[in-house]
Amino acid sequence: MPVKRMQKKCWISRTTSRQYEMHVRWFYSENCRRLYETPFCSKSQIHGQGKDKTPVKRIQYQFHPETEAALNQQLNVELKASYYYLSMALYFGQVNVALPGCESYFMHMHQEEYGHAVKLLNYTKTRGGRISLCVINPPDEQNWLNPLHAFQTALDLEISVADDLIAVHGIAEKHCDISVTDFIITNFIDDQMKSISEIARFVTILSGIGNEALGQFIFDRDLLKHYVPQDFNVLRKT
Ligand SMILES: [Fe+2]
Ligand SMILES: [Fe+2]
Repeated sequence: MPVKRMQKKCWISRTTSRQYEMHVRWFYSENCRRLYETPFCSKSQIHGQGKDKTPVKRIQYQFHPETEAALNQQLNVELKASYYYLSMALYFGQVNVALPGCESYFMHMHQEEYGHAVKLLNYTKTRGGRISLCVINPPDEQNWLNPLHAFQTALDLEISVADDLIAVHGIAEKHCDISVTDFIITNFIDDQMKSISEIARFVTILSGIGNEALGQFIFDRDLLKHYVPQDFNVLRKT
């Protein structure tokens, strides 16, 4: 006895070919409409140029997904550091705190970290990778009390960023990605060590000053004079 073929229970079997065609048209127009509304996406990108409308393959020459993920993670670490420094700069710029040296220094650090994030995303883009941004939370406590507290936090932050950079280097090394290992060493490690050393010196000096107002004033004035590039000096007359 011939085995009865199972009838697939699918909506297509219950619709006429005309209805199906209409559904496809509607689906296509709905999705195209959404894509048109997406910024940075042109009409030609959606339909493809010429006859070939197949999606373009991602081109990643020896770029391991784990290395790509590590670079993405580092990008978010740099953005977090940038956000912390912005918070510190804003605190020391308040009229009831008024330490222009600390304000200018942290604003410079904020820009530096942002620059690191841009370097990472440009590099990832060059390797054909994807950028995945995530939520950047502000510091739990945005009242930085005094320069010592802020610089101690900055030191911890820089040490943690250095650890993360070494981890990214390790992952790239595991996958024999000499381009990433070179990129990390050339663009980050040296600056990171200098930052740790510089901030550690400030912590040592500030540990002897504590909450003493005159000491903080002198420290702040020296910081502005010797450690802040002119473009970031908030007291600079334009
Ligand atoms: Fe950085
Ligand atoms: Fe840094």
